[in-house]
Amino acid sequence: MLYTVIPAGGSGTRLWPLSRSSNPKFLHPLTGSDQSLLQATVERLSPLSDPQHQYVVTGTGHAVAVARQLPGLPEENILVEPSPMDSAPAIALAAAVIAQRDPDAVMGAFAADHLIADADAFTRTVSQAMEGAADGLLMTIGITPTGPETGYGYLRRGKALAVGHLLAEFKEKPDHVAAVEYVSSGDYLWNAGMFVWRVDAFLAELARQRPRMHEAVRTLAAAWETPRRDATLAEIWPDMERISVDYAVMEGAAAAGKVGVVPGDFGWNDVGDFDTLGSVLPTDEVGNVVIAAGDVKPEVLTMDARRNVVVPGSGRLVGVLGVDDLIVVDTEDALLVCPRDRAQDVKRLVDELKATG
Ligand code: GDD
Ligand code: MG
Repeated sequence: MLYTVIPAGGSGTRLWPLSRSSNPKFLHPLTGSDQSLLQATVERLSPLSDPQHQYVVTGTGHAVAVARQLPGLPEENILVEPSPMDSAPAIALAAAVIAQRDPDAVMGAFAADHLIADADAFTRTVSQAMEGAADGLLMTIGITPTGPETGYGYLRRGKALAVGHLLAEFKEKPDHVAAVEYVSSGDYLWNAGMFVWRVDAFLAELARQRPRMHEAVRTLAAAWETPRRDATLAEIWPDMERISVDYAVMEGAAAAGKVGVVPGDFGWNDVGDFDTLGSVLPTDEVGNVVIAAGDVKPEVLTMDARRNVVVPGSGRLVGVLGVDDLIVVDTEDALLVCPRDRAQDVKRLVDELKATG
């Protein structure tokens, strides 16, 4: 049985104004159905793990929404962090809590906000990764790159293993020049943002590279099932290093020959921006995509309009007339209109908003 951990935090700035730190993208039904990304992630993991073995790590502000969306999950399996410290502390905390409950556990960490088309292929790939994990490796899943994306981790394969390969290098978020080189070399895969390992192997690697974080999560795990939990969290959490697991552990572990990779071919999509969503979700006959946001029934009227991505989120009717290839996102307090080919720049708009307050 696999222990599964879903770190669910972060704000998804390229999906503004739909995704906010108060209402992040994993809670939204961006799946082409009523399910949120988080609910779809849990359902996808069900052939590998039962609810007793499934964990979510999330912030105080999201814990209630997470519990409501996942009624099958035992309450004690929702680990609540006082403030966002990126993925390394979240994943490390879960590993330490699980190790306390089961020292021989094999755990997988799965991003909360991906779309995956072929669930059976996904299950098979994770099962392969579990074989590598049983041998003590920290396992990753590698996706064949389709372009020089700079928002992903890159994995260079080394020696072949019984299943998959040893990693020769893990490079998180390279610059554009390096990404172009990696993709054209054909030697690199994208990191899918999913990891499978024995908890003891991961914690040993954390202790080697990030001894303070290791000490902190061990202390937290020891206090977790006791009345001291909240006081210990309040004391320790603010001093946690804010860093992602890719930088904190995976790059160094790969350099030390402790990381493996299995290839994943299951229609993986990191739904990072509205243009990507528009190309993976079902469209009408002329290519428009309407995305339901939250509980609001989508009310959109399109006329002589093609390939637009429309998110009606405020309960108002949205009319789209005579325009093509636009993104229109309506929410109660903010409206976004931009061409689909500027979808990446929404992050710049949000940065500007933050800068000007
Ligand atoms: N609990 C918690 N707290 N979870 C967090 C936090 C936090 O402070 N920050 C991020 N997460 C969660 C996210 O919700 C997501 O499920 C996962 O950790 C990954 O975080 P992202 O912020 O989405 O990472 P990324 O997209 O920049 O990069 C990762 O994913 C890429 C693939 O999508 C890396 O693993 C890359 O190497 C990878 O290519
Ligand atoms: Mg991501």
